Amino acid sequence: MTTRRKKIYEGKAKILYEGPEPGTLIQYFKDDATAFNGEKKAQLEGKGVLNNRISEYIMTKLTGIGVQNHFIRRLSLREQLIREVEIIPLEVVCRNIAAGSLSNRFGLPEGQALPRSIIEFYFKDDKLNDPMVAEEHITAFNWANTQEIDDIMAVTLRVNDFLTGLFSAVGITLVDFKIEFGRVWENDFARVILADEISPDSCRLWDSATNEKLDKDRFRRDLGNVIESYTEVARRLGIMKDMPTVIQGGLH
Ligand code: TMP
Repeated sequence: MTTRRKKIYEGKAKILYEGPEPGTLIQYFKDDATAFNGEKKAQLEGKGVLNNRISEYIMTKLTGIGVQNHFIRRLSLREQLIREVEIIPLEVVCRNIAAGSLSNRFGLPEGQALPRSIIEFYFKDDKLNDPMVAEEHITAFNWANTQEIDDIMAVTLRVNDFLTGLFSAVGITLVDFKIEFGRVWENDFARVILADEISPDSCRLWDSATNEKLDKDRFRRDLGNVIESYTEVARRLGIMKDMPTVIQGGLH
């Protein structure tokens, strides 16, 4: 990048830069893929472009149904303008079907439907490996208050319902996903809105017909064809036409 600008935060898959106006930031999507808290690392050419566009598409759809979120507009292939929020240090996971750490924790076969959707909270702290926490920890340590937790859970279920339908319409099963929230202040009042990203990095997406994985588990589990799978998600969502030809033509 040629522009000189202030880096506010660098995570494993994204960088936040100072935005053009107060109260805004630029969210840059890297091609870096990591798993197991950064133990496993790779560069996947095109991932940043795909996640930038997929997340934009989903956040814009969510705005359309009244789910407020930080997305303002796409700036470039890997960058989007977002509203600055005070991030709540929680990873909010919502699950419809047993997989991943839930399957491991409770000995449930992957693919088993859950009796109802389950929301879990993890404390966002790499040094501690994002431990799972209860509402008691969240309120006692002041990460969020009870009203905010209620709001977060209600929005999470709405996002789940909406995304389940959105993906199901294109032959994809939404197994689970992780979202994050942030506070925005209006006068003396804080409101919680959706932040971060929603992409195949942060969801489990299975082809409805074959159960083939179309998400980051392809990277975590060395299944190959990671970019091809993210591309397939974008193609089914009908947004591949917006992609640069280098990605449309395949990046292998
Ligand atoms: P898990 O089964 O590994 O707990 O993951 C649950 C969901 O959360 C899955 O869709 C992947 C997503 N996730 C992230 O987005 N970031 C993470 O650091 C982890 C561990 C999971």
